[in-house]
Amino acid sequence: MKANSTSNMDRHAPLVKTNGLCVRFPLKKESPFSKRRYVNAVSNVSIEIFKGEAFALVGESGCGKTTLADATLGFVAPTAGEVFFNGEKLDIRNKKRLRQQRRSMQKIFQDPASSMNPRFTVARAVAEPLMIRMELDEKLILSKAAEAVESVGLSAGDLDRLVSEFSGGQQQRIAIARALVSGAEYIVCDEPVSALDVSVHAQILNLLMDIRRERGLTYLFISHNLASVRKFADRLAIMYLGRIVEYGDAEKVFANPMHPYTRMLIDSVLSLDGGKIASASQLQTGAVDADASIPDAPFDGGCLLRNRCPLKKKECESIECRLEPVDDEHFTACPYYKTR
Ligand SMILES: Nc1ncnc2c1ncn2[C@@H]1O[C@H](COP(=O)(O)OP(=O)(O)O)[C@@H](O)[C@H]1O
Ligand SMILES: [Mg+2]
Repeated sequence: MKANSTSNMDRHAPLVKTNGLCVRFPLKKESPFSKRRYVNAVSNVSIEIFKGEAFALVGESGCGKTTLADATLGFVAPTAGEVFFNGEKLDIRNKKRLRQQRRSMQKIFQDPASSMNPRFTVARAVAEPLMIRMELDEKLILSKAAEAVESVGLSAGDLDRLVSEFSGGQQQRIAIARALVSGAEYIVCDEPVSALDVSVHAQILNLLMDIRRERGLTYLFISHNLASVRKFADRLAIMYLGRIVEYGDAEKVFANPMHPYTRMLIDSVLSLDGGKIASASQLQTGAVDADASIPDAPFDGGCLLRNRCPLKKKECESIECRLEPVDDEHFTACPYYKTR
């Protein structure tokens, strides 16, 4: 368990669970006569995010991380499979119930400047999630906003200033206050520092993790940056072309990566910076997977990594890669891990 981590993760109580989740998007037709094509952004993903944990989702740009996270928030409808929140199935068609469930969920976006209206006062930006709740009066809303703003290191005196008056790091603090104000227990942090100046990355990540520990929150933390994932995540999933290829306890996965893709990610990060952990942008633009794209047909067997895998066997052309246990806290989708 990490020093910075929470000790109240409850492995018996998934707050979020996906079961065979698939999300595909139709692509624009090239002509009225051409066949409709699809992007399988998320393919057959079954994960559990336990109450009180920081669960990281790692993978390169375009592999489906945001789509998977948005499906857990009910923002995106599954094409197949299910999402459960606190044991209850999310039903996108039941708008009333979904609205109630969403009170327990929030998302912090990559770029605070585009996720909040810069012309809003801090008070309005932070209090917005409460304003739609008719039962709360203005005084109570303002006092909750002041409390949230103070908990992210700003002062109640900042409430009357405009969002645009603040630096990127401070705007992300405002966005975090906004996520906290309604008392949500599940927070998706979608690459929460990658649009910010490197000098504030550690401050914002530490703030997020302190808040989680103090309030017993559950995070789905999306990141390219393996260094921060290693520092903060209790458990993780490595995603490749819409699928989870490795999953489980973060320390175990880093100590003993069992999927060739996880090894490639870790090695490329290490080698890119002369033995040190490289930055997120280096991984993003690195040579790990520049040419891979999510297949537009449903998965028809064979390992998706096979054309790039240094350890490829003949069987990889046809095997169906499912997550198999390495032990009860670590799973890999490569069936040949035992022979490596
Ligand atoms: N609304 C959408 N319509 C069509 N394609 C989409 C949509 N959202 C995402 N995609 C596609 O789905 C894939 C996964 O995207 P995304 O979940 O944003 O990946 P990531 O967050 O890992 O960068 C990409 O190929 C992306 O272009
Ligand atoms: Mg994304």
